[in-house]
Amino acid sequence: MNGRTLGFLLTGLVVAATACAQGRHQGPVVNAPPVPGTPAEKRVLGVLDQMVTGGELYLAVDADNGRMLRLLTETAGAKNVVEIGTSTGYSGLWICLALQNTGGRLKTFEIDPARAEQARKHFEQAGVVGLVEVVVGDAHENVKRLKDPIDLLFLDADKEGYASYLQALLPLVRPGGLIAADNVAMAPDYVKAVTIDPQLDTVFFGRFAVTLKKR
Ligand SMILES: C[S@@+](CC[C@H](N)C(=O)[O-])C[C@H]1O[C@@H](n2cnc3c(N)ncnc32)[C@H](O)[C@@H]1O
Repeated sequence: MNGRTLGFLLTGLVVAATACAQGRHQGPVVNAPPVPGTPAEKRVLGVLDQMVTGGELYLAVDADNGRMLRLLTETAGAKNVVEIGTSTGYSGLWICLALQNTGGRLKTFEIDPARAEQARKHFEQAGVVGLVEVVVGDAHENVKRLKDPIDLLFLDADKEGYASYLQALLPLVRPGGLIAADNVAMAPDYVKAVTIDPQLDTVFFGRFAVTLKKR
C-alpha cells in the first residue's frame, strides 16, 4: 500500500467516524408493521397477519409492496381500483385499507375459482366484502367489459399478459391515474411499453413498478 492509498483510507475512516458521531451514519431502516388506528383497520390487519402466519397466500406481493399499494390508493383518493390477479386476496386487502377511507371500490379478476373463493372469504372475514367485486375467469376476456375511468390499475397476473392488459386498459386509466405492477422483471415487453411512452412516467423499485399517466 503506498502513502497515497493509505491517505485515502484514513480520510474515509475519519469521515465515517464523524458521520457516526453526528448520528448521520445509521444502518438500513426496517419497516415496522403498521399500528392499527381504528377497529376497522385492526380487523383488516388481523386477517393479513393470519394469511401470512397461516400460509393462506399464493404468490402474493410482499408486505412492503402491499403497504405501497395502500399508500398509492389512499393518496390517489382512488374511487375505482382494478386489480388483475386476485389470488387469495392479500394485495386486495391492503388496497381495501385505503378504500375504507376514500369511499372507493375494488374490482379484482382471478382465473382460478378456488383462489377466488378463498379471497372472498378473506374479504368477508376482514369486513370489506362490500368494497370488493371478485370477477372469476380469464381477465383478458373480462376486462373488455370495463367502461368506467380507473384511478389505480394493479397488474399481478400472467406476466406475459402485462403488455396486453396495459394496451386494453390504459385508455380507461384517468389522466393523473396510476398503474402498478409486480414482478416486472418477468415482463420485458411491459417494461419497454411503460418506459418509452411519452404519456407515462415509470419508477421501478425492486420487483415493483409504478407508472403515472401524465395529465
Ligand atoms: C401473483 S398471483 C396474484 C397475487 C395477488 N395479487 C396478491 O398479492 O395476493 C397471480 C394470480 O393471477 C391469476 N391469473 C393468472 N392468469 C390469469 C388470467 N388470465 N386472468 C385472471 N387471473 C389470472 C393466477 O391464478 C394467480 O392467482
